Amino acid sequence: MSKIIEFKNVNKEYKSGGHILKAMNNVNFSIDEGEFVVILGPSGAGKSTLLNLLGGLDSVTSGEIIVNGNHVENFDDNQLTLYRAGNVGFIFQFYNLIPNLTALENVELMKDIVDIDINGLDVLDSVGLRDHANQFPAQLSGGEQQRVSIARAVAKQPTMLLCDEPTGALDSKTGVLILNLLQDMSHNKETTVIIVTHNAILAEAADKVIRIKNGQIESIVVNENPMKITDIDW
Ligand SMILES: Nc1ncnc2c1ncn2[C@@H]1O[C@H](COP(=O)(O)OP(=O)(O)OP(=O)(O)O)[C@@H](O)[C@H]1O
Ligand SMILES: [Mg+2]
Repeated sequence: MSKIIEFKNVNKEYKSGGHILKAMNNVNFSIDEGEFVVILGPSGAGKSTLLNLLGGLDSVTSGEIIVNGNHVENFDDNQLTLYRAGNVGFIFQFYNLIPNLTALENVELMKDIVDIDINGLDVLDSVGLRDHANQFPAQLSGGEQQRVSIARAVAKQPTMLLCDEPTGALDSKTGVLILNLLQDMSHNKETTVIIVTHNAILAEAADKVIRIKNGQIESIVVNENPMKITDIDW
């Protein structure tokens, strides 16, 4: 498999109240095309920071982020917009749905951004929400909103799908349905899937597990025989 993502000596500092917080402290790792990657670490470790830097939502203090051979850290605003639109699907920790669009419209919104032919109803069906297509976010439960946000990211068929606690608001059965969808995407459709989670059991299904603590890489483990999501005893 070929390397699609590389972090080289990445640092991210935030200034808060006169002192400097190192949210990323000399972080190095690489990810292969189509890998199913799980990122673990305690609250405040820097997991969301890592995804935001990789997705071009935030900029490094120093270091290199290389995606598909391109140096993301050197992109100007225009290039970042194109990069996000063309390559990146986000499933945020908080759902970021557009409140005055229905579930279906939130999913089909992708058609305006990238040139793809999708059937929004089919994608909603894959997350178990076909019957809720015409409801607005405020009329959906938290878990249903999270699934609309997952459907929207999946519909985009991005090169990489960055998922921040994608099942945080879901019951375990629905969570397994979603994780299975994400694992299938990475193995069948050449989408590289990166999932931040607090659920360490998910590590058993990952091709690669990256553990972060205090803004630093604690360990990187490659699983030779990852389990299928549906075979894990949750
Ligand atoms: N915009 C910001 N300004 C200042 N500090 C920030 C900012 N964003 C994040 N931080 C700090 O950076 C550190 C890493 O935050 P991050 O959101 O990446 O953690 P996380 O691993 O995603 O945690 P959680 O599991 O709670 O979501 C935290 O200490 C946080 O307070
Ligand atoms: Mg976070």
